[in-house]
Amino acid sequence: MKAFALAHPNIALVKYWGKRDFAYNLPGAGSLSLTLGGLSTRTCVEFDAALDADSLQLDGKAVESGGKLKRVSQFLDLVRERAGISQHARVISENDFPTGAGLASSASGFAALALAATTAAGLELSATELSILARRGSGSAARSLFGGYVEMNDGVYAIGEDGTKVATRSAEEASKAAYARQIAPAAHWDLRCVIAVTSAGEKDIGSTEGMVSTQNTSPYYEQWIASVPGDIERAAAAVAARDFAALAEVAEASCLRMHASAMGADPGIIYWNATTVALIHAVRKARAGGLPVFFTIDAGPQVKVFCPAEALDECRALLAGTQGVRQILEAHPGEGARLCGDFVSDA
Ligand code: ADP
Ligand code: DP6
Ligand code: CO
Repeated sequence: MKAFALAHPNIALVKYWGKRDFAYNLPGAGSLSLTLGGLSTRTCVEFDAALDADSLQLDGKAVESGGKLKRVSQFLDLVRERAGISQHARVISENDFPTGAGLASSASGFAALALAATTAAGLELSATELSILARRGSGSAARSLFGGYVEMNDGVYAIGEDGTKVATRSAEEASKAAYARQIAPAAHWDLRCVIAVTSAGEKDIGSTEGMVSTQNTSPYYEQWIASVPGDIERAAAAVAARDFAALAEVAEASCLRMHASAMGADPGIIYWNATTVALIHAVRKARAGGLPVFFTIDAGPQVKVFCPAEALDECRALLAGTQGVRQILEAHPGEGARLCGDFVSDA
């Protein structure tokens, strides 16, 4: 009743920002991402009849109470219900990058937890079933089950047995259709993602809180959601054609529209700091000067800069030369979540 799993975070090129249903954590629109090899979460889950509550150790520290433990415990309830067991579990997890800082720790965290917990509970779920389950923990986690380039469905339609689209009629039905799938493997396109950490502390407004506030109060939320399907289509075509310029255009647009919708909330949500803005300008200027780079930013102040492998050194130098950058992390197209032995490094 014990299992270890490893998962990488992922970075959305077309963002998920908003929910259609809270109980099932259904996204308000689809999204498209790249799984980031180079950054990892490792999680161990052990169900034990001797425990009278779930316990969580995160990044080396015991989490005695509060939101983080509750979120893990509620997720374990879904696993227990499915496996027909009632034991509590001991969960130990390590992110080898900043937690809750806009680097998608909830994505790798809940993908690794979904795989480790279901395995420890004796369940054998398909990648699609795991993706649906991981989504209940965190929407972006549904994508980290898969490697490479990944597209997430919004669950508005299910694919019928004959391959046609059928509209789902309830949140429960939509839940079964809202999962991610790989659209191209990691080896398809060796893009690199250089991450400028501009502040490593946990953000004040978590992603869940930020998107809920946006959809409840921002006059731009509907327009933002309406813009997503076209962006997914363009991004998927750019990935298929390995068209860097086209991907740059759609990824920056999706990022800026997402942040614009959040800034339109009441009170406005600003995840950026001065260095974030300096990097946006530095990247655009470098691209205008011929360097193939584009930026994207999640719910936090870190800036992720994409480039083809050949431009890696120049891209790193661009970030290192921007004042206020505290740390530079590097990622490449990575594999999906997998079981691993103990906490040995096999990332
Ligand atoms: P991020 O940008 O890091 O994804 P979020 O606000 O989406 O930020 O989520 C951060 C939350 O995800 C944490 O506060 C914690 O509840 C949860 N989390 C992060 N890493 C893990 C992990 N390895 N195991 C379990 N939960 C995790
Ligand atoms: C800006 O998946 O963290 O990173 O479903 O509430 O856990 P919850 O939110 P989460 O949101 C991710 C938001 C984002 C964009 C993205 O990854 O698509
Ligand atoms: Co998150």
